[in-house]
Amino acid sequence: MKDQIQSTQTEALAQIEAISDFRSLEDARVGILGKQGSLTKLSAGMRDVAKEDKAEIGQLLNAARQTITASLDAKKEALQSEADAKALEGIDLTLPGRSVHHGSLHPLTIIRHEAIGILRRMGFALADGPEIEDEFHCFDALNTPEDHPARNEKDTFYFDSGKLLRTHTSSVQIRTMEGGKPPVRIIAPGSAYRRDEIDATHLSVFNQLEGLYVDADVSLGDLKGTLEYFLQEMFGSETEVRFRPHFFPFTEPSFEIDVKLHAKGQAPKWIEVAGCGMVDPDVFDSVNGNRKDEAYSPAGVTGFAFGMGLDRLAMIRWGIKDIRLLIENDTRFLKQFA
Ligand code: DAH
Repeated sequence: MKDQIQSTQTEALAQIEAISDFRSLEDARVGILGKQGSLTKLSAGMRDVAKEDKAEIGQLLNAARQTITASLDAKKEALQSEADAKALEGIDLTLPGRSVHHGSLHPLTIIRHEAIGILRRMGFALADGPEIEDEFHCFDALNTPEDHPARNEKDTFYFDSGKLLRTHTSSVQIRTMEGGKPPVRIIAPGSAYRRDEIDATHLSVFNQLEGLYVDADVSLGDLKGTLEYFLQEMFGSETEVRFRPHFFPFTEPSFEIDVKLHAKGQAPKWIEVAGCGMVDPDVFDSVNGNRKDEAYSPAGVTGFAFGMGLDRLAMIRWGIKDIRLLIENDTRFLKQFA
């Protein structure tokens, strides 16, 4: 029995020594120590060992099991380090890791969020309207006559159905008043579309933010105060703002608003950022006609409206010289806003 134990151990150790992969190592473990393994089978012979020899033989079997187990473990470790070394071959662990690029908000999104934030603090609620509009909401209800240049095929994207891509967000004024009674105090950011020749200051899709405030006693002073405050929140409290008389079919009186831009290395200049005015009573009449009531009776309510170019605000804020940068998705440009 002693000799058998010795030779089983010697054989097992030699077998393990020769192994060079995990699979064979596992097979060897089962073949030696498993239920039908060589050493296990040998242990079964304990039954026939004379009583007085049992302790000694038992110890020898245990010692053999321990030696073999240690050898299996050592082999496993050796194979593992070999595999690790192989996996790392050709990899330079001293190279810096690959960094994950952080995305950032688009400059227009930043400006839109800011503009909405300022106006909401002043009590304006968000409103929305369709980008595919009809002529009534885009033009007629806004007191824009049939022969107005803005309605020209040359300037507006028309569908065969007679619908069109809204040329401004002012259509949301009409939709909002149709949908609810005064007081109304809303802003509507969104896209507008014109058949403009694309250049550094024009795109055929651009972004506006419309505002409308209608109540019993809204004055031109309210309009001026609101927009001055807005622009100074946007561009700094020192910002100079100018209201220049202008014409829009849907407001009377009407103004264009300029802010004075102090660009580095350039003489200060006035830049137009918005149109605005007091809502024309004819607009209220169109809305009433459609509503079939007098909720917006020009005798009972007044209002102001404004529409600003969000692209323009972004260009002023960051000194962006070419509006096309805002739609090209060039990461070299966008990264600067991260
Ligand atoms: N809709 C005008 C445009 O796109 C801007 C505008 C001017 C909006 C005056 C207004 C307004 O609400 O009162 O040029």
